[in-house]
Amino acid sequence: MAFCDLFKEFVPIRVDEDIYLRQHEPEKDARPFWEIYQDEDNFTYFGGDRRPCDYDEEREIRKEASRVKGFYGKREYSWVVTCQGEVIGQIQLFNFLNHNTCAEVGYFIKKAYWNRGINTKVLKAVCRFGIETMGLERIEAFAHVDNIGSNRTLQKAGFMKEGTLRKRFEIKGKLYDCNAYSFVRG
Ligand SMILES: CC(C)(COP(=O)(O)OP(=O)(O)OC[C@H]1O[C@@H](n2cnc3c(N)ncnc32)[C@H](O)[C@@H]1OP(=O)(O)O)[C@@H](O)C(=O)NCCC(=O)NCCS
Repeated sequence: MAFCDLFKEFVPIRVDEDIYLRQHEPEKDARPFWEIYQDEDNFTYFGGDRRPCDYDEEREIRKEASRVKGFYGKREYSWVVTCQGEVIGQIQLFNFLNHNTCAEVGYFIKKAYWNRGINTKVLKAVCRFGIETMGLERIEAFAHVDNIGSNRTLQKAGFMKEGTLRKRFEIKGKLYDCNAYSFVRG
């Protein structure tokens, strides 16, 4: 299928009996994602400056709607990770490069669900989709050197560490090293 045709109709992914990856539904997902964003532990190693804030439905719906716009604008393929119907995280392919043969993957799972193998399964399923359905040759990922869960999940999903990028992540105004990983076809 041509790359641009992949963005006409969103493809959900059934990972297993419990885990299902679906498209963002702004009105339905605004509050569950806001709740996840309130726990700073979920974003210790994320770039930028995320802080807890009051719930503002319009703002949160706009954030979720931007994910859907990103999809129809062919800029990102972002799935909501659900477990038995509950919103527990997000995973996306974005930064499409080199005639759409390369993409970056980013993800998070809410803390209550960590260390149950969920992200590893989700990442494997999304890589399979990226390589087999989207025709990608390379999927890359960057993880803060101290982010054990992220480094581990990438290794378990078959990514290879390519090196350490020094002072590459800016978090709340400070610079940190991060590891660069790739998953390639073949
Ligand atoms: C990174 C993240 C998505 C991993 O999700 P997850 O569902 O917990 O991942 P998995 O359970 O598949 O794998 C996690 C692995 O890390 C290991 N791990 C996590 N924290 C650890 C620690 N402090 N010490 C040792 N091992 C640790 C787990 O034991 C597991 O490895 P194992 O299966 O070999 O035991 C999740 O921790 C998260 O969302 N973190 C916050 C957001 C984030 O950092 N996103 C990535 C940005 S690059």
